[in-house]
Amino acid sequence: MRVGLLGCGIVGTKLVGLINERGPTIEAGSGLRLELAAIAVRSSSKDRGLDLDDSMLTTDAEALVTDPSIDVIVEVIGGIEPARSLILAALKSGKPVITANKELLANVGAELYEAAAANGVDLLFEAAAAGAVPIVRPLRESLLGEDVRRVMGIVNGTTNYILTRMADDGVSYADALSEAQRLGYAERDPTADVGGFDAGAKAAIMASIAFGAQVVAGDVYHEGIGAITQGDIEFARQFSYTIKLLAIAELQDVADGEGSEIGVRVYPAMVPNDHPLASVRGSFNAVFVEGQACGELMFYGQGAGGLPTASAVLGDLVDASLNLRRHTFHPVPSGPRARIRSIDALESAYYIGLTVEDNPGVMSAVAGVLATHDISIKTMQQQEAVPNEDGDQARVALITHTALERDMQATLVDLRRLDDVCDVNSVLRVIGS
Ligand SMILES: NC(=O)c1ccc[n+]([C@@H]2O[C@H](COP(=O)([O-])OP(=O)(O)OC[C@H]3O[C@@H](n4cnc5c(N)ncnc54)[C@H](OP(=O)(O)O)[C@@H]3O)[C@@H](O)[C@H]2O)c1
Repeated sequence: MRVGLLGCGIVGTKLVGLINERGPTIEAGSGLRLELAAIAVRSSSKDRGLDLDDSMLTTDAEALVTDPSIDVIVEVIGGIEPARSLILAALKSGKPVITANKELLANVGAELYEAAAANGVDLLFEAAAAGAVPIVRPLRESLLGEDVRRVMGIVNGTTNYILTRMADDGVSYADALSEAQRLGYAERDPTADVGGFDAGAKAAIMASIAFGAQVVAGDVYHEGIGAITQGDIEFARQFSYTIKLLAIAELQDVADGEGSEIGVRVYPAMVPNDHPLASVRGSFNAVFVEGQACGELMFYGQGAGGLPTASAVLGDLVDASLNLRRHTFHPVPSGPRARIRSIDALESAYYIGLTVEDNPGVMSAVAGVLATHDISIKTMQQQEAVPNEDGDQARVALITHTALERDMQATLVDLRRLDDVCDVNSVLRVIGS
């Protein structure tokens, strides 16, 4: 099976190494001999630390994808263009494609899934959702007949590393981020990770596959981790929770009985310490799936990095090659555009962190505001008051029972108006056990 590789950076170089190293085992197990035919890159003079024949590298990716001597294409360039056009051209010339490109699939996935089906070839993308963690194949195959209700994951290793350092070692957000950048976990511009956009793209892909409806990156509600403080981490500990950046895709029946909507969102949330996701630490990823018949499942592992990502790509490469040999393919269930549930309709418990004047009656005033919006308090903690020039101030944290997001937003407006509330420092959703 002659393989054409588009891109030879962090993932591509590791894939070249793996094809060479694992080739004999793959051949012994499947009878399939993977042969690297050509590699398209931007600069053919760059040293990639690989022992490659110079004739293998090309800067003409368009010619590579339509070369009739190449059977299967791997795209690890990234971004929308030229990746999209190259993949479409490869599919149209009857070649299966493997991609790790979450940005591309979360924006124009449906177009590519349809092109793959129209040409009767595979488009496989295990590495685009959670790196080496197998979640796309289980959702597409093992759980195809399952009534999946929720997919909830830690799918960004950078933010999980930062939050773990903050919780375990008392490091500030800024210091944990600089450390993640030094270690190569975070980009110099970390916005895609810390702002929740990378996790949002993965949430859109997982939602589309889990629920068989088109969900795109623009449908995902985002909040990043930049506002999380040591104060929140400390209160979380006191309440027996851990703060995690979660990507959540949920199927919800519509109240009038007319079908269902998909809620898809990324935000930092309080996860109870006895929930399996609370124990996912450092740069690890995990995806928790809830289905009507299967119950709860969790998939865990390395969500990024050249070698783990290349491992997932290699699995897809073998799968697509075997399918091509058998003249078959797995169509991606690409349904109609999803009906997206507004964040205002979210029902959740909430954590609220406040700074208040240490005056008698302040707590009952806070509770009174919540009560006017039908929100009841489950538990509340106050830290020792500290003096400042306007008098003593105290940090207070409370966790509510389940409330509607729109009621919570109205509550926050009213809390900020109270004379004794100096600041509403943070608001986080709280996940049930
Ligand atoms: N890195 C990870 O941990 C990870 C994890 C999961 C998914 N992914 C996904 O995997 C993909 C690749 O990521 P990466 O980290 O390997 O990226 P990367 O290190 O930036 O490598 C990109 C490669 O694409 C080549 N390239 C760029 N533009 C090209 C063009 N117009 N024609 C031909 N080649 C071109 C570059 O060539 P030059 O080398 O000549 O510049 C480079 O070899 C992305 O979609 C990413 O989201 C990465």
